[in-house]
Amino acid sequence: MPGGGRIQHAGLARKVVPADAAAAHVRPGDTVGMSGFTGAGYPKAVPEALARRISSAHAAGEPFRVNVWTGASTAPELDGVLAAADGVDLRLPYQSDPVTRQKINAGEMDYLDVHLSHVAQLAWEGFLGPLDVAVVEVSGITPDGYLVPSSSLGNNKTWLDRADRIVLEVNSWQSADLEGMHDVYYGTALPPGRRPIPLTAPGDRIGIPYLRCPLDKVVAVVETAAPDRNTTLAPPDETSRRISGHLLEFLEHEVARGRLPADLLPLQSGVGNVANAVLADLGASRFQGLSAFTEVIQDGMLDLLRSGTVAIASATAFSLGPQAAAEFNAAAAEFRDRIVLRPQEMSNHPELVRRLGVLAMNGMIEADIYGNVNSTHLMGSRIQNGIGGSGDFARNAYLSFFLSPSTAKGGAISAILPMVSHIDHTEHDVHVLVTEQGLADLRGLPPRKRARAVIAHCAHPDYRPLLEDYLERADRGAYGRHTPHLLGEALSWHTRFLETGTMLPG
Ligand code: COA
Repeated sequence: MPGGGRIQHAGLARKVVPADAAAAHVRPGDTVGMSGFTGAGYPKAVPEALARRISSAHAAGEPFRVNVWTGASTAPELDGVLAAADGVDLRLPYQSDPVTRQKINAGEMDYLDVHLSHVAQLAWEGFLGPLDVAVVEVSGITPDGYLVPSSSLGNNKTWLDRADRIVLEVNSWQSADLEGMHDVYYGTALPPGRRPIPLTAPGDRIGIPYLRCPLDKVVAVVETAAPDRNTTLAPPDETSRRISGHLLEFLEHEVARGRLPADLLPLQSGVGNVANAVLADLGASRFQGLSAFTEVIQDGMLDLLRSGTVAIASATAFSLGPQAAAEFNAAAAEFRDRIVLRPQEMSNHPELVRRLGVLAMNGMIEADIYGNVNSTHLMGSRIQNGIGGSGDFARNAYLSFFLSPSTAKGGAISAILPMVSHIDHTEHDVHVLVTEQGLADLRGLPPRKRARAVIAHCAHPDYRPLLEDYLERADRGAYGRHTPHLLGEALSWHTRFLETGTMLPG
């Protein structure tokens, strides 16, 4: 930004106040739209000030809770502090904060786990009521009052447009060279006013690099200089490496058979350890000049951009560990033409995912023998994180992969089961399942053949004979032989774990 200072609009510069004064604009019962996506670009000061206000109110015996809408997961300074203060009535969408998870699973906080591409529409249609306040981190404000977004865009456009009152946090820790990296598309509408989105390649720019801000709604501006907070993922272990090895071998095979181009199709890579291992192994593969149409730029994706394995990446946010974030901040300008950050309604848009033919690779909690996938719940009841963008991508991908170790908790849990305890992605949306044991290509297979492939290629040897036995007995004794199940037994592996601490019998 020319001229040095981060707040170049004179009127907004006059609205700078301490975080406590800004937080005073949030009232009990308000719905607050916060920026933030996978630990990037969330407000660093106002949520903590709000949590202090909430705690003081509670200490004085006054009720004070708010509804919190975000882009996706944030950080301890937002989700963590508000949950610890018992300040959140309803939270949406994806989140991964441990304190919030505990409150949700204790029944003390409501959680709406919606597809990330749906959130803006949900806010616009008004079903969830008005949005009272937007608290949005930006990296700068231009002289004419446009906002330079920071390390995530998420739902910020929608929050700024929909909220009655706006609080801006201007974070000078964010690189000034982020300016120009964003592409904010203002052509969205509610039906029947929708038009085709004019994007035909991951790197297309179809909007403007700034967020528009209705200046009369800005009630406070807060200055911060604080880093995004993400933990560094552990280096890939042997299990993750084997999963990614099977996946890369499959991709090479598809290229050799002429079913995928040599530079593949745009990649989407989900969150978590396994997805990270796939990115690391792609860097060591023979693939070059790839593209990504994905949700987040993780450390691994940044490495692939640096090495040229990935030529261009579209996402809605960064999700970098501290070292990668520092490296990126020092060299952001180099990436400006090769990374496009979009609102999450665009980065995850079903129309675009389908048009581009995305290869979607996401982690899972468990899958059943027919290929139904649970990404969100432990033992049917307890939320782990949320569906995030996995449904946006899996449902519309050219090829949809789900990846997981074949067991969890030291082998006491099988990730391959007779029936999943919760379904996020149905068998119709799941093309390929991969564990460290192998890969099951389910395309073109009817249910019983799918089951045999999943059991043979993905199940852990400790559980494989049990699954074979289940399928064989179900095939003989079930009500129908299309998708044979023994309903009295289908979820018995989960109940056995809850009762005995292991899914293994005896
Ligand atoms: N039963 C019980 N617990 C299980 C389990 C199972 N079948 N599978 C995994 N877990 C537990 C692990 O033990 C671990 O627990 P811990 O934190 O107490 O150690 C935790 O779940 C995470 O598992 P891990 O193997 O480290 O996987 P991951 O980091 O690759 O994450 C998901 C896997 C499914 C939780 C993660 O990918 C996710 O949240 N996905 C949904 C959202 C999504 O796909 N977003 C991307 C869209 S762009």
